[in-house]
Amino acid sequence: MKLIMLGAPGAGKGTQALRIAEKYQIPHISTGDIFRANIKNNTELGKLAKSYIDAGALVPDSLTCDLVVDRISQEDCANGYILDGFPRTIPQAEALTAALEKKDGSAIDFAINVDVPDEHIIKRMQGRRTCPGCGASYHLAYLPPKKEGVCDVCGEALILRQDDHPETVAKRLEVYHTSTQPLIDYYGKAGVLHTVDGTKDMEEVFAAIISILGD
Ligand code: AP5
Repeated sequence: MKLIMLGAPGAGKGTQALRIAEKYQIPHISTGDIFRANIKNNTELGKLAKSYIDAGALVPDSLTCDLVVDRISQEDCANGYILDGFPRTIPQAEALTAALEKKDGSAIDFAINVDVPDEHIIKRMQGRRTCPGCGASYHLAYLPPKKEGVCDVCGEALILRQDDHPETVAKRLEVYHTSTQPLIDYYGKAGVLHTVDGTKDMEEVFAAIISILGD
């Protein structure tokens, strides 16, 4: 099963992708997580990506496409994977389509679009707290940690992600509408698009996705 998650920043792609990956036992590949890990480790890629991410812009396709194409060629992706945050532009989608076609004539099986209007997004992002240690994500109202301000998984102090400050979220939404929303049409034409209402609670969204993917 080869799956991609579409949706605005903060729509809940990561939350659902982790659960889908666990249920179907496939790797969860998040380009945002890959970039954040590189920033944390101060790699060349991290240094290049940081300025774009902090500004709410997209990292250039030239830094993103090869990274993902290489990742999905690895052994653990043989039975499928879930891409979270990639593709994000038409050129990225075209690069992915071409890479799959070249590899074994396959294609993406499901594009799940988690639909959430902008006004919900802004509220959600203000409440998101992230662990800089292990990357776990929480929400002050909808998914609070057991102990206030502390990660359940690794015990580090939770932070508001640099790009979750309101002015950067506004920029990310603008970029989403311009560069990423056209992918809804792209995957619609490919016949693999499914849209779920991401304003429902996390369990309901997950149930809607499972009913699309099957047990
Ligand atoms: P990335 O990390 O991918 O950010 P994003 O797409 O903007 O998505 P988020 O991680 O912010 O949100 P999400 O949809 O996963 O929501 P979540 O589940 O956390 O990318 C960061 C940056 O990296 C980009 O801006 C860009 O610069 C760069 N980048 C990454 N990929 C790239 C690419 N392919 N090309 C170029 N640049 C790239 O949920 C949000 C909050 O809401 C959480 O607190 C959660 O607990 C809560 N929540 C989730 N679901 C619900 C629900 N149903 N009800 C209530 N609360 C909910």
